[in-house]
Amino acid sequence: MGKNILVTGGAGFMGSWLVDELLMSGHNVTSIDDLSGGYMRNVNKECSFVRGDLRDTALVNKVMKGIDIVYHLAAYAAEGQSVFSPIAINDINIKPMNNLLVAAVNNGVGRFVFTSSMAVYGNQKAPFSEDMPRLPEDPYGAGKAYCENMLEIFQAAHGLDYTIIRPHNVYGPKQNIADPFRNVLGIWINRLMSNRHPIIYGGGEQVRAFSYVEESTKAIANAGFFEKAVNQIINVGSPEKVTINEACTKVLRIMASEQRPEHVPQGPRKWHLRTARRRNPKGCWTTETPTRWKKAFLKWSCGQEKSEHRSPHTSCLLKSPDPRPKSGSGRRCDGPVHITF
Ligand SMILES: NC(=O)c1ccc[n+]([C@@H]2O[C@H](COP(=O)([O-])OP(=O)(O)OC[C@H]3O[C@@H](n4cnc5c(N)ncnc54)[C@H](O)[C@@H]3O)[C@@H](O)[C@H]2O)c1
Repeated sequence: MGKNILVTGGAGFMGSWLVDELLMSGHNVTSIDDLSGGYMRNVNKECSFVRGDLRDTALVNKVMKGIDIVYHLAAYAAEGQSVFSPIAINDINIKPMNNLLVAAVNNGVGRFVFTSSMAVYGNQKAPFSEDMPRLPEDPYGAGKAYCENMLEIFQAAHGLDYTIIRPHNVYGPKQNIADPFRNVLGIWINRLMSNRHPIIYGGGEQVRAFSYVEESTKAIANAGFFEKAVNQIINVGSPEKVTINEACTKVLRIMASEQRPEHVPQGPRKWHLRTARRRNPKGCWTTETPTRWKKAFLKWSCGQEKSEHRSPHTSCLLKSPDPRPKSGSGRRCDGPVHITF
């Protein structure tokens, strides 16, 4: 029989894929999103959609009534921006977590699945495995680490079962390709669509892995049902590595672009060298699917009208990074920064 499921961030990139997946499996899905970063066009018409802010405690308690499983994906996921907007980022990413946890316990929720981030590993040596300590190095990662820790505390204190998913560099259709703090593939495509060359930080030999959204969200969906996933932390990512130069060459070839990448100096810290190690439970892993990306993500991206970038919650309180950082600046940003001071 179908479960009653609440998905937060259901108008966003991964949340909307997850809602589709859960509906296809026959569940009753309620999705909540304030549309601060998501879009109505992403919302599946078969789910019950609530437009609202998860910082609203009464609203969160209301939508939690009768829910069996919670998937919490809503966030402002701009890691690179978070060092410049710590108050806003924490307000968005932490208060909703506390509201959801309290409402989940009070309403007898059976499982709480949380999408965390590889950012909790900080600058430790890759590949990352789940038994490594949490050593975040920016407010976004620190917020995710806080949320993970709260789940462990609520499990111990109130018996709330959880699964923590740490997804790795997810890409695919419905991603916001205009946000300069998101996935580099989308950022390059967006630049190429407006006849601008791709930017590569440093020599481009730094290694990345990319996970296609469909596999990632299937793994997240499974996490709510697999017994082996109860009270576990699970990395979800591709084991296939690619250098930034190789990825850029692929993008240029697929887009039949004659542009050439511009290499700009990289800061001293490697923020995104992240490779997840394979681990059980079976079915919770993704593989790299470059062909699929070519067919689906690119087609989708190029069908977009001019993509706008929105980050309404997050005016920067601190000086924002130069989009073309000078050598040794220590901060990176993949494009123009549309933020207010
Ligand atoms: N995309 C990735 O590569 C990636 C990697 C690791 C972790 N994650 C995590 O996965 C989750 C989903 O990421 P995404 O890429 O789909 O992001 P996204 O920005 O596309 O979706 C997030 C959604 O949350 C909504 N939201 C934000 N604040 C809200 C609030 N206060 N109340 C209600 N809704 C709110 C936004 O409107 C948006 O639709 C996030 O928690 C993110 O940190 C993503």
